[in-house]
Amino acid sequence: MCGIVGYVGCKEAQPILVNCLKRLEYRGYDSCGLAFLGDGLQVYKDVVRIGELEKILPPNGGRVGIGHTRWATHGRPSKVNAHPHVDCRGEIAVVHNGIISNFLALRERLVSEGHHFFSETDTEVLPHLIEKYYRGNLEEAVRRALQDVEGSYAVAVIHRNSGELIAARHESPLLIGLGDGEKFLASDAPALVDYSDRVVYLEDGDLVVMHGEGLKISNQGREVVRKEHHLEWTAKNVGKAGYEHFMLKEIHEQPGVIEEMVGESVSTIEPSVNLEVFIDRTVDGILLLACGTSYYAAMVGQQVLEEIARLPVRVELASEFSYSRTVVGRTLAIAISQSGETADTNRALKKARDLGCRTMAITNVRDSTVTRIAEQSFYTKAGPEIGVAATKSFTAQLIAFYLIALSLAEVDAGTFRHMTQELRLLPSKVQRVLDSEKVIAGHGRRLSGYESVFYVGRGISYPMALEGALKIKEIAYIHAEGYAAGELKHGPFALLREKFPVVALTLRDDTYEAMLSNIKEIKARESPVLALAEEGDQEIAKYVDYVLPLPQTDRLFAPVVISVALQLLAYFAARSRGCPIDTPRNLAKSVTVE
Ligand code: AGP
Repeated sequence: MCGIVGYVGCKEAQPILVNCLKRLEYRGYDSCGLAFLGDGLQVYKDVVRIGELEKILPPNGGRVGIGHTRWATHGRPSKVNAHPHVDCRGEIAVVHNGIISNFLALRERLVSEGHHFFSETDTEVLPHLIEKYYRGNLEEAVRRALQDVEGSYAVAVIHRNSGELIAARHESPLLIGLGDGEKFLASDAPALVDYSDRVVYLEDGDLVVMHGEGLKISNQGREVVRKEHHLEWTAKNVGKAGYEHFMLKEIHEQPGVIEEMVGESVSTIEPSVNLEVFIDRTVDGILLLACGTSYYAAMVGQQVLEEIARLPVRVELASEFSYSRTVVGRTLAIAISQSGETADTNRALKKARDLGCRTMAITNVRDSTVTRIAEQSFYTKAGPEIGVAATKSFTAQLIAFYLIALSLAEVDAGTFRHMTQELRLLPSKVQRVLDSEKVIAGHGRRLSGYESVFYVGRGISYPMALEGALKIKEIAYIHAEGYAAGELKHGPFALLREKFPVVALTLRDDTYEAMLSNIKEIKARESPVLALAEEGDQEIAKYVDYVLPLPQTDRLFAPVVISVALQLLAYFAARSRGCPIDTPRNLAKSVTVE
């Protein structure tokens, strides 16, 4: 949830680290800080964004440094809780991502030994432990300190008497960028795109000593060699490309993402779908595990897999699966996570693995933690997503489900051909939604004037109602709830009135008549209704206040088209309200704590 960066080399560390941290700010942005080895150890931190901190940094010639952008877990966002944390003498600085679960016991022990603590964080035990074990060799002191620690961590450490940077990981990602006479450290690849495309991903238990010229990685005291990878993400695809917000840019990238994913897997010669993963269709069932927006993708995936592949599918919130749930029969458990770092999802997949399930991940990030748990991984091709709200990564997950279902299809040749054709048409249909951006902006502006809104749908539109509500809640701070339309009258109806609008997702499928009845019931309670309906639907306008027409799409594939419209709706509502769209309050891009 936090972002970590580090530098050792021949250049001035400060501008490099500031730039790297700006690239990582979407990971968490409560506060930030930097430490350099220049004239001794210098630490700067505050409850500000990195751009603000940069303005007050004095010139610093240090060529070694570490930096951090925080999403608070232990202790509120404050200057004293911000990283880096230092030891009693102010000689050691540490930045940390993860949670030290035994920090209270460690802290009590260290206090009894004379150490003074200032923050409420779990992290602060680290510099004190390292101080306790330091005998002139920083690597050894860090190794010894980490032996006392339980929990998860990615850490970076510097000491005023040493020109090296020590880093270590356990269940929290960390990678090293390689340069000529310089090395970079980061918790996430986007931090490095301006400096290096040669990277080494650290494994759990790795401890690394970094100098400008050299790199030594050890695991359990033994030196190891980790493979060098080429970083596919570039400065171009982690920039805003002229858009006002990353979110808007990422919404607009969706036709290209879909085209690439479909083009790579669906044969144009004969109708067939070929994937890099192998799925054994003799399993008794599939278990989908995910959180947040990825969970809604899984809800769509459930219907798609059941209908196309004719396999029984169960969907579980990953954060709930860990509690007394079990599996029956031979099950394939699939974790869906754009970041691959969501702690609840990873824990749930581990549990499924321990229960004897075969395992797979659907993720957007290569070498992310989930890919180390799963036996095989299906990589979506969304590219870097910087806006905190999931947009293109969500539609890429939907496409992954269509492709997986079609690779296991139990449908006749005509239906199969029709479905692959529908997939190929999706990029142009999504483009048509994007082309109606101005109209959607008007609806978004209108919604921005309300404090609460319901989103309703039935069948395959129901998960989209949930997703639409999450999106507007997350970025526009409008209270929103998604409902299966039939459920409104079982309680939520009590809230309906003139000042409580409803967004109704009305596909012309077998849910249409029931949706019309629900809409009439809602209108009888005077709530304004905006219907997202298929082009050519003449009927719907008679019953609602506003209609947003969407390209006609086969029912199973409609969630892609609907989701893009809902993303734009939320985006423009948020813009009208002046919200910080890419970095909504209290949130972070990946949720690495349970
Ligand atoms: C979506 O807009 C959210 N930012 C959030 O719900 C997200 O989908 C959830 O935290 C799961 O993340 P993951 O896909 O990286 O596992």
